[in-house]
Amino acid sequence: MTATQLRGQLAVLSEPADLAAAVAALRAAGRAVHFVPPMGALHAGHRELVRQARAGDAATVVSIFVNPLQFGPGEDLDRYPRTLVSDLAACAEEGVDLVFTPGVDAMYPAGATTTVQPGPLGAELEGRVRPAHFAGVLTVVAKLFNMVTPDRAYFGEKDYQQLVLIRRMARDLDMPVEVLGVPTIREPDGLALSSRNRYLSPDQRQVATRLPAALRAGARAGRDGADAVLAAAGAVLAAEPARNERHSRSALSHESAVRTAEPAVEYLELRDPELGPAPAAGEARLLVAARLGTTRLIDNVSVALGVGE
Ligand code: PAF
Repeated sequence: MTATQLRGQLAVLSEPADLAAAVAALRAAGRAVHFVPPMGALHAGHRELVRQARAGDAATVVSIFVNPLQFGPGEDLDRYPRTLVSDLAACAEEGVDLVFTPGVDAMYPAGATTTVQPGPLGAELEGRVRPAHFAGVLTVVAKLFNMVTPDRAYFGEKDYQQLVLIRRMARDLDMPVEVLGVPTIREPDGLALSSRNRYLSPDQRQVATRLPAALRAGARAGRDGADAVLAAAGAVLAAEPARNERHSRSALSHESAVRTAEPAVEYLELRDPELGPAPAAGEARLLVAARLGTTRLIDNVSVALGVGE
């Protein structure tokens, strides 16, 4: 496959050796390589990553791989949406040059036992609920970086702790790649786009908007300090669902269904941008995780502490 054949066409490769040859051809044509590694079920948030990655004349490589190593027992590995046909169509529409779709055996050949450990931050926030998650994420991302050899890699800020840990891994392990974060894309009602939103029932979907609403309320309280931020966000998360006026039987049963869809908040924390303790003033990050039925949602925003909006 020559570099000119690749330009403007979508090549889909599943063998690491074919990927290496295709990337070498792109580089031989003088193009930088920018990389976006989602797990699939591409949505507008992923498309935004690709758009940013396409800046300049860089070649864009997307990998699509549902990484078993980052799912714990009882998590949603089996039901994680696999939508390769529409994912490839989205990549073609967005002008991606190369899609890498390895099988599990190509990524984790029999006998592979080495993993990348995230350090103490990997056991906090998400890591408290998902103890092996970030080792799984960092291991697959390190392997993908070695296979794709990108100049830049793009990750969504929606998975903020993941972004911080990947950036730290690249720095700590001297990986020659620039890791860039891309702001979260949201539905009109504020819900952060996520492949997992499709699991929500209509009632849960309605209640889910309380997460971004809580984060907005927290950010608005930033000038009054950390306690005020957590109090404002916590109040929105705990709020009773809005009452309908007076009530047909179906409105009442709808209301009680919404009530039973209450989010079970796993954490609401304010940290500094590197996820250390929150500063007294300056930039901070407010992060939330909640379970709605069997679906976990996470979200976060930047908060300016001690500064009026
Ligand atoms: O964010 C994701 O989709 C995954 O965690 C990642 C970074 C692709 C690793 O499998």
